[in-house]
Formats: sequence, structure tokens, C-alpha cells
Amino acid sequence: MVESLIDINQLTVEEIDELIKKAEDIIANPEKYAHKCEGKKLATLFYEPSTRTRLSFEAAMYELGGNVLGFQSAKNSSASKGESVSDTVRVVSGYADIIAMRHPKEGAPLVAAMKSLVPIINAGDGGHNHPTQTLADMLTIYRKKGGFENLTIGMCGDLKFGRTVHSLTNAMSRYEGNKFVFISPDELKIPDYIKTDVLDRKGVEYEETRSLEESIPDLDILYMTRVQQERFFNEADYLRLRDTYILNEQKLKNAKKDMIIMHPLPRVNEISVEVDDDPRACYFDQTLNGKYIRMALILKLLGIN
Ligand code: NCD
Repeated sequence: MVESLIDINQLTVEEIDELIKKAEDIIANPEKYAHKCEGKKLATLFYEPSTRTRLSFEAAMYELGGNVLGFQSAKNSSASKGESVSDTVRVVSGYADIIAMRHPKEGAPLVAAMKSLVPIINAGDGGHNHPTQTLADMLTIYRKKGGFENLTIGMCGDLKFGRTVHSLTNAMSRYEGNKFVFISPDELKIPDYIKTDVLDRKGVEYEETRSLEESIPDLDILYMTRVQQERFFNEADYLRLRDTYILNEQKLKNAKKDMIIMHPLPRVNEISVEVDDDPRACYFDQTLNGKYIRMALILKLLGIN
């Protein structure tokens, strides 16, 4: 099997450090990288909606001098005729040097990686994982906080279906001294497997609460998330839960002066627009960092220095 990125745990902490350093170098010296991927093609196979992830992958490949092909929805691909992910990937791996795939089914990119002749990057699989969002989040944390240790990290909102939360928890629990505060309604709590297989196994400290107001003063990072409407079986449940948390300036009064406010975006109502002007808000930095870290990742998986 060629080297793919399906789960953030496939990267060692040293490899994450290298990717961060590479992204920093790309930010500082973009001209050095402008031709690195000349003659190479990235395919973006998106079976689910996306703005940032797909466009930042595409922008990343263009800024490396490469080209892009792909589809933006299952409807526009032969999936709508019943083609399997395995067959599609076998075909596309003859057309492209690397593939970024988003799919509503958990595990689809892993199946793809088993069939593909070229590296597969998981760009989000159902309510499971989203490793490249985690890399974008980590570049942001690194640039704002200077490192990954001794942080109290609040995750707020849909912790059950929010795949970015699962991958980020996995990654940040590998560093010393971090503590997690999981803030959610009972129906959207962090999955048990994250608690037992990730946090308990590593002896990481965490607490679960419903109250954003009570926990906000302790946090170094507040990671807000959207309630994932598309994963609900029942519209009434979604409508009841969607506005459980709305972060506004009033609630931020009790937060640390250097707490950072993160969100993978898209936001719906969970952060009021007034917060955008708060110097602690860094969700738009995350989107830009996503492009740079994806450039670094494409280079790594293609074996280009
Ligand atoms: C996230 C996703 O797709 O999981 N978006 C993204 O990639 N930036 C978060 C979300 O959709 O809520």
C-alpha cells in the first residue's frame, strides 16, 4: 500500500513537527515552492459538500505548480450510477498522482487507500475523522500558542458527530500536560471510544459538562463546532439542539485574555458575528493555515522536498 493519510495517528509527533516547519517555510518563502509539483495532478473526489477543504486542497496544488481534477458531488460522478468507491479510485489513480477524498461513509477513504496506486488523503469520512483539518488546527495552535503542551482545551457543540473534534482530540492528547473539557448537550457527547481508547488509555485528564459559561474561564483554547445536521436521523432533534451554544462577547468576558477561539467552519449560529472582531478569534486564520499545511502534506506524500 502506498503512503496515505487516513487517520491523524498515522503521523508521529515528529512528522507533525516536520509538517508544521514545512508549512512555516512555505509561508515565509512561497517562491521556493511555486514549481515543486509541476507535472503532478491532484484529484479531489468529494462525495459530500465542502468549501474550505476542497478549495484549499486545490489552491495548495496550484500554488505548488501542479494541476487539479475531480468532482464536487456524488451526483456528478458515476457513484450516482452505482459505481463502488474501490472501482472509482482504481480508475482515478491512473489519472492523478494523489487523491483527496471526502465521503459520508466512515471508512470509505481507508477502503480507497487499499485499492489505490497513489496516496489517498482522507478529507473527512462521515462522523469519524478529518485529519487535515487537525493539521490546519495544529498549525493555528502552534502559531498562536507557540506549542502543543500544557493547554486546557474546551471542545464545544456537537462532539458526537463532529469529526474534527475526534481527530483533534486524538492528536492533542499525545502531548504532555493537556487537559480536555468536553462541553455538549447529553445527546451530543464525545463518543465512548474516544474516552476509553484515546484518553483513558493515555491517562489524559478530561471532564464533561453542559455549561459553556462555567468552563470558559479555565480554557486556553475554545474549539466551537456546528451541530452536524446531515448526520441526524430526526429533524426535530436537530432543531431542538442546534442553538444550544451561541458564543458572544458577553460570554467571552470571563475568558482568559489570551484564550483562542477556534472553529473548523462553516459556522451556523454558534459564534455571533460580533466575535469576529475579537482579537482572540482565529477561525479565519485556520482556513488560511489549512492551505499551507495541505501544501506541506502533498509534498510529503509525493516524496518531494
Ligand atoms: C468541517 C467538516 O467538514 O467536518 N468542515 C471543514 O472541513 N472545515 C466541520 C463542519 O462541517 O462542521
